[in-house]
Amino acid sequence: MSLEIVILAAGQGKRMLSGKPKVMHELAGKPMLSHVLNTARQLNPLRMHVVVGDGANLVKAQYHEDQDIRWVEQTERRGTGHATAQASPAISDDATLLVMLGDVPLMTKGTLVHCVEMSLNEGGFTLVTADLTDPSGFGRIIREKDGRIVAIIEERDANKAQRSITEVNTGVIAGPAGLFKRFLAGLSDDNSQGEYYLTDVVAAAVIDGVPVSGVKAESPEEAAGVNDRAQLAWLERHYQRRRCEALMLGGVSLMDPLRVDLRGELQAGTDCVIDINVVFEGEVVLGDCVRIGPNCFIRDCILGDGVIVEANTVIDGATVGCEAVIGPFARLRPGTELGADVKIGNFVETKKARIGAGTKASHLAYLGDATLGEDCNVGAGTITCNYDGVDKHETDIGTGVFIGTNATLVAPLLVEDDAYIGAGSTITAKVEKEDLAVGRGKQRNIKGWTPPSKRKS
Ligand code: UD1
Ligand code: MG
Repeated sequence: MSLEIVILAAGQGKRMLSGKPKVMHELAGKPMLSHVLNTARQLNPLRMHVVVGDGANLVKAQYHEDQDIRWVEQTERRGTGHATAQASPAISDDATLLVMLGDVPLMTKGTLVHCVEMSLNEGGFTLVTADLTDPSGFGRIIREKDGRIVAIIEERDANKAQRSITEVNTGVIAGPAGLFKRFLAGLSDDNSQGEYYLTDVVAAAVIDGVPVSGVKAESPEEAAGVNDRAQLAWLERHYQRRRCEALMLGGVSLMDPLRVDLRGELQAGTDCVIDINVVFEGEVVLGDCVRIGPNCFIRDCILGDGVIVEANTVIDGATVGCEAVIGPFARLRPGTELGADVKIGNFVETKKARIGAGTKASHLAYLGDATLGEDCNVGAGTITCNYDGVDKHETDIGTGVFIGTNATLVAPLLVEDDAYIGAGSTITAKVEKEDLAVGRGKQRNIKGWTPPSKRKS
């Protein structure tokens, strides 16, 4: 069997009141369409046809690297049936066609597989339906007394009795491509919206004796279509709750699962504890017994066993060695690599900094484009001056170096092992092994000096 998937994503999303296409609005940090594409890929389709229209260039630009997408332009928005018909001519009649909607982001692989298999077994159309306590806005599933599906009626075209039906159309439908083409060709736009509805394929198929069946989505979230920003926010909360639950069942303690957001992949060892208001983005890997304090933003990083991240810390693109302590109020920027037992304290910023085991920068420092060996002490106010206005330069510091408070280290600079740098120094030239470098004005004390205010009187 060859499976081809059509994803409808041409709508502007009037109800979003937005300048960007609806499917580009993000759920858990990723455009809705990315969720749909990722799930579609899990079915190993022969091709994915994405129908775009409003903001097509924006959408295509986002996925320009994805070779497995065939883009189909729908020049006018004339309904979901019309949109499907833009893609179907390129699909061979004997393929199985699965239609997904770009604004239904959380449909699961399991439900889709079930839907495709049922349509294959019966040789007709299979819809994914859902039972919702609040079905408003959805197309309703019309069944005969014996349970057979006979039609889908859009809410705007439904009478009062039909509106009271709580089984809805999720928008996902599978069937033989040849049958889709036959019934799409016969659609009419004689309805309240003047559109060609994909959903009308169902009633036409029933009249022609083609089998139509339904499979149920496992949860209301799976069925949730996003038409406005309130629905998107609702779905985001559901999604986050589900992911946090999975994390906790996987052995991670969350102080409050309603106040942690996962916008990427988080892998965690045993006995990690995550406090409130922590946001994870990209790919984050935590070792065992990692503790993350409140109000932290953590993106694309690896934190080793026993790392402690104190409150209000930002970690982005960093690797942190075991037992290191970061924060409170620290900022690790991309290219930071910290060894074991490193301490990065409050108001310390690092960027492209490789810092050896046991080294401490406990307060108020900037370490950028720098390498520091093991067991150094970086005093408060230490700055690596890495930028000359045009180029960036490296600071290379050996092991066991002591850098006094308020040192200005002008790169390019080499400071050898066990050197000392006096507090308040501006260091512009190499400091050799075990030397003390002092680069500051000599103190003068002026005897008998009278302060200005006393002079006046
Ligand atoms: C649609 C279904 C409805 C279902 C609901 C599930 C139809 C007629 N209605 O309604 O039964 O309950 O989804 O969420 O199918 N699109 C295009 N081109 C168009 C029109 C739409 O590509 O000309 C795309 C949109 O970008 C969107 C999807 O199709 O991703 C669904 O369109 P939307 O207008 O949101 O339909 P609903 O009113 O939600
Ligand atoms: Mg919709």
